[in-house]
Amino acid sequence: MKIILTGIQPSGALHLGNYFGAMQPAIELQSHGQAVYFIADYHALTSVTKADDLRSYTFDVAAGLLACGLDPSRTILFRQSDVPQVHELAWLLSIVTPMGLLERAHSYKDKIAQGAETNHGLFAYPVLMAADILLYNSDLVPVGRDQKQHLEIARDIAQKFNDRFGPVFKLPEPVIREATAIVPGIDGRKMSKSYGNTISLFGNEKEIKKAVMGIKTDSTPIDQPKQIEGSVLGQLMQAVDPEKYENFKVYGSAPGIGYGDLKKDLLAAIQKRFQPFQEKYRHYQTHPGEVEGVLHDGANRARALAAPILEKARRATGLSSS
Ligand code: TYM
Repeated sequence: MKIILTGIQPSGALHLGNYFGAMQPAIELQSHGQAVYFIADYHALTSVTKADDLRSYTFDVAAGLLACGLDPSRTILFRQSDVPQVHELAWLLSIVTPMGLLERAHSYKDKIAQGAETNHGLFAYPVLMAADILLYNSDLVPVGRDQKQHLEIARDIAQKFNDRFGPVFKLPEPVIREATAIVPGIDGRKMSKSYGNTISLFGNEKEIKKAVMGIKTDSTPIDQPKQIEGSVLGQLMQAVDPEKYENFKVYGSAPGIGYGDLKKDLLAAIQKRFQPFQEKYRHYQTHPGEVEGVLHDGANRARALAAPILEKARRATGLSSS
């Protein structure tokens, strides 16, 4: 049976980029093997500095995944830090990881360019991510395009470990959906918590409206046809309501239709699509024990899955006596 694994950092509110880039594909893949999905709280510590924030974001990501259709009777959902064995594997992997591989990591270079302080956690981030993936013998990893290089690094590290110690790890394959591989944010850059350009999945109506109405558009006058295809509005509508998108393109390019009208249409499509999830999300917010129960059970199942794989790696390196 194939292992399908992915992780989401609890570093802020979930947004449409997370949903279309990773959550939706991951939830759809649940029935294609054993899905193992986790909340990457160790990773989030590289950006979240307040303990209370980390705790509430962690809960929100778990509640969000459940609200969007993660089925806990089938899928293992857990907090990364509930399986601290991942750090032992990260160490075993770090001794076969060339410095140059990490120095070339785009996400590290981007963070530095944004003025983040350099620290070892940020630099070693891809090694921990490789350990997340390899600890469960993952076959498929659904992610957005921004994680592609991290997947390549994980494969490189697995290969180097196998070359030195024998065939311990499978090489994981990324699953990247081209149409939503990079969901744009309201300013046209990749939607990202760190750019402050997100449309949140579970924000209140006012917040979502403000973000949608703030989508950057060009200065085509109202009486001129507008280019919808490839625009931020067009790309978001295509992701949110692919059927409606076909009409949207025609309607949007008609002279006399303003960007304000198109934004209202997109807002309505977002509300329609996500309202059922928002209701479930509110349920979990008022029943936190249910979420905790799922995470507790998920941690036990994740530890059981990880134990023999870690043991195999320990034995291969000579850490175990047999
Ligand atoms: P994170 O928390 O930044 O994002 C979670 C997932 O959402 C995807 N995503 C996007 N996809 C398309 N367009 C966007 N604008 C967009 N923004 C975010 C991300 O690609 C990701 O799939 N390092 C990971 C977390 C992680 C992980 C792992 C993932 C830790 N260990 C092991 C997979 C396997 C991260 O920072 O994702």
